[in-house]
Amino acid sequence: MEGNIVKLEFEALPENQGFARSVVSAYCVSLDPTLEELTEIKTAVSEAVSNAIIHGYERKGTGQIEMELKTMDKDKVYIKITDYGKGIRDIKKAREPMFSTEESREMSGMGFTVMESFVDKVFVESEPDKGTAVTLIKYLDTYYGV
Ligand SMILES: Nc1ncnc2c1ncn2[C@@H]1O[C@H](COP(=O)(O)OP(=O)(O)OP(=O)(O)O)[C@@H](O)[C@H]1O
Ligand SMILES: [Mg+2]
Repeated sequence: MEGNIVKLEFEALPENQGFARSVVSAYCVSLDPTLEELTEIKTAVSEAVSNAIIHGYERKGTGQIEMELKTMDKDKVYIKITDYGKGIRDIKKAREPMFSTEESREMSGMGFTVMESFVDKVFVESEPDKGTAVTLIKYLDTYYGV
């Protein structure tokens, strides 16, 4: 069962990283997550959104990012972050710990690793010059209801 679907679209501006975190937080509160779960979800979302801004749209400050939020079976949060930027040529490589195409800017290449450690499932779909979609799924421990 999929409940309470929320979709939003925002500009690829650095300040919208915080905005995306707040929206996710507001969305998740009704699911009664622990503080730790909430922090983990927000951090994973931040990484995906910052990747869209920095890599997808190469810090140009223009371009749309979509975020779709969904709840499945009342205890699984599904978050899909989509950009229509430059895309990822080698997804497997991009997901490796400490791999970054921006080493010169001293980026640590740990974004995907952070996402993988903080949520239960991370799916990446991407096509060069078309864009990237990252789906994060988090199972909440806190659901005891009917
Ligand atoms: N939305 C995206 N569009 C295009 N390329 C991306 C996108 N997300 C990730 N990448 C590519 O995958 C690489 C790895 O991403 P990851 O988040 O793991 O590390 P990083 O962003 O380089 O560094 P960090 O997140 O630690 O600051 C990036 O360097 C970039 O080349
Ligand atoms: Mg990153």
